[in-house]
Amino acid sequence: MIVARTRTSLHEARARLRGPVGAVPTMGALHAGHLALLRAARRREHSVIATLFVNQTQFNDPSDYAAYPRDEAADLAGFETSGVDLVFAPSVEEMYPDGFGTSIDPGPIGADLEGARRPGHFAGVATVVAKLFNLTRPTRAYLGQKDWQQTRVIDRMVQDLNLPTDLVIVPTVRDADGLALSSRNVRLSAEQRQAALSLSRGLSLAHDAWDDDERSPQALADLVKATVQAEPLATLGYAEVRHALTLEPIAAAEPPLVIAVAAEIGGVGLIDNVVLGNGLLDEIAP
Ligand code: PAF
Repeated sequence: MIVARTRTSLHEARARLRGPVGAVPTMGALHAGHLALLRAARRREHSVIATLFVNQTQFNDPSDYAAYPRDEAADLAGFETSGVDLVFAPSVEEMYPDGFGTSIDPGPIGADLEGARRPGHFAGVATVVAKLFNLTRPTRAYLGQKDWQQTRVIDRMVQDLNLPTDLVIVPTVRDADGLALSSRNVRLSAEQRQAALSLSRGLSLAHDAWDDDERSPQALADLVKATVQAEPLATLGYAEVRHALTLEPIAAAEPPLVIAVAAEIGGVGLIDNVVLGNGLLDEIAP
């Protein structure tokens, strides 16, 4: 496995890779969700590039950026055992040299939900992902379902800017009790972690109601809201049922749809979702 820290060394190592090439963009703090992305890429591609960069411009809250877990040695070991061929782990200066001034505005798809909760977040994501795609030139990029809105923002950008990369969305990986894996989970105390289960519990109640033919977006969202709001340690951000691809409000809960929830627990922002619709998620078994 080659570790490139500069654009020049990345360029040289990338030129030696045989295609098709899969890219897995990460901010490190690898957990089983990242490993599922790496596994999906390893199975399908001839070569796999992982990127490791905690991107300050997508953190609207400096304390969240400061608290973001970092363990480069463990991350590199995780990439190595996942069969990654090339890691791009640049410094902040390498990604944002003096004079850097361009930012991609993802438009309406990034303005709402997480975009409203975290102003500037998706401009930061879109800009860094465009840079990472331009630098690594992947055939396909692997993204996690948990950050559903992020997948939609990147998909919109890939279409709008005619980037030659296809996206593969890998289903959310959960702990046995249902908690969606997130690098931020390590910041939860045992009690806060219990409260965090209200997100997946609310989503699963809504999913069950949908299975029982509930088609009112409001009724489904209300089930999630009530479950999270019943947790004294949780502050609900939003619970919404939207069109899975456009993220626009829908009159009836018919696929493709996403039920998305966000809450803050002990100062830690958590998100989760359920996606209903054919062909939206990678269907190769984990
Ligand atoms: O999902 C993440 O880890 C980040 O948002 C990404 C896609 C690596 C961009 O910094």
